[in-house]
Amino acid sequence: MITNKILSFQITFPLMMSVGAAVIGSLQFGYNTGVINAPQKIIEKFINETWFERYQDPISKSQLTAIWSIAVSIFSVGGIFGSFSVGLFVNRFGRRNSMLMANILSFIAAALMSFSKMASSWEMLIAGRFVVGLYSGLSTGFVPMYVGEVSPTSLRGALGTLHQLGIVLGILIAQVFGMEAVMGNDDLWPLLLGFIFIPAIIQCIVLPLCPKSPRFLLINKNEENKAKSVLKKLRGTTDVSADMQEMKEESRQMMREKKVTIPELFRSNLYRQPLLIALVLQLSQQLSGINAIFYYSTRIFEKAGVEQPVYATIGAGVVNTAFTVVSLFVVERAGRRSLHMLGLLGMAGSAVLMTIALALLEKLKWMSYLSIVAIFSFVAFFEIGPGPIPWFIVAELFSQGPRPSAIAVAGFTNWTANFIVGMGFQYVEEVCGAYVFIIFTILLIFFFIFTYFKVPETRGRTFDEIAAGFRQTSATGGEKHHSPEELNSLGADSQL
Ligand code: GLC
Repeated sequence: MITNKILSFQITFPLMMSVGAAVIGSLQFGYNTGVINAPQKIIEKFINETWFERYQDPISKSQLTAIWSIAVSIFSVGGIFGSFSVGLFVNRFGRRNSMLMANILSFIAAALMSFSKMASSWEMLIAGRFVVGLYSGLSTGFVPMYVGEVSPTSLRGALGTLHQLGIVLGILIAQVFGMEAVMGNDDLWPLLLGFIFIPAIIQCIVLPLCPKSPRFLLINKNEENKAKSVLKKLRGTTDVSADMQEMKEESRQMMREKKVTIPELFRSNLYRQPLLIALVLQLSQQLSGINAIFYYSTRIFEKAGVEQPVYATIGAGVVNTAFTVVSLFVVERAGRRSLHMLGLLGMAGSAVLMTIALALLEKLKWMSYLSIVAIFSFVAFFEIGPGPIPWFIVAELFSQGPRPSAIAVAGFTNWTANFIVGMGFQYVEEVCGAYVFIIFTILLIFFFIFTYFKVPETRGRTFDEIAAGFRQTSATGGEKHHSPEELNSLGADSQL
């Protein structure tokens, strides 16, 4: 068993380069999440003009809204398809090469979006958003899988959080680039959207220099020597016997499990509990309401009477990034479970604060400041746990056999919930007004309770130990459910 690994630092240059190259994919996902918010009016003007050129008739308000909503949300539709297809690639081409290949989609999307103005075609814009959605969906599977598989156990949470850091940095960069003075104007918006080809080029140059996943090499390809030499590079030491031992153990288990398809994942008793946990954690991330903020914050701030809503939105992006960094440093100490619960509870409190601010706005003018505080703390608590943890915990909850299918199903759930919030929020808000955040409060409390009763701590435990914990649970026929504490105690000696 691995003991006391948490204290031994294993941050080597090859490891950082590999993780850094991978999370460029996360950056692309974040960039495309945030990029469409600020330049809305300018791009709508382009759609309007194009329509007029074609039909000699101005576009109606409802048609414009429809085209715009499609352009925004087709990104998540692409994400749904992309994330679901992860399993088609990772076992055939490997994790690293899959990430590399996906860049073709980035280049196609960049071309479609940046030439849409020149070609007077908003259809190209929509097609580009769909294609970059495909890329982002694939990335949300490839990146956490690769990062989880190259990381040493003691750093898996911290390095896993870098996926989320890539996302939030992408959002922030997009918010800043989207300002009118930068690229959010009539002339430069095609460049703003096409900018994604630059990170794509960088990823294409750096990734081939990074090692393949050692787990993929050993467990899927049975190439022991290659796996060993990759591990030596990644760990910066010649003694990689502990890692090899653990991977072989997982491999032996896999001989019994084989590759697990998505239908098998749902049918097998063995995976019922980790699957439920993985899916509910994805839902807790999206149904927390976070993207109501990231898609519509400017509008929310406007309604709350904030004078410079664009700056408040960028402020939210800065807080978002700062707290992801906080999470990065505490996740290996505080653990996933407690941080996730703290985040959910803090978000629920902030959502109540937000409701109070919006409800009392007409009577008390200073409530607009309270709304800023509430949104900032909502975002801060999100990044403490519910932002980063669901992304990397799926790779931890499953062993090599079922991992690709589990990540695909989890990604699919995440993106579908993302789509529902993105599409539905505006309509629900019209009905509920100031009280819309109460819905999120109720959901957040539900997710808090679920986490408390069902989610085990995975910090400091090898993939194999985590899987063994669940195997023991299902061996009881699912009759007796282990509490998180019981699951934790299986392999407890590796915890500190
Ligand atoms: C998470 C979510 C993403 C959201 C982002 C905000 O990565 O998956 O949908 O926009 O956090 O920081």
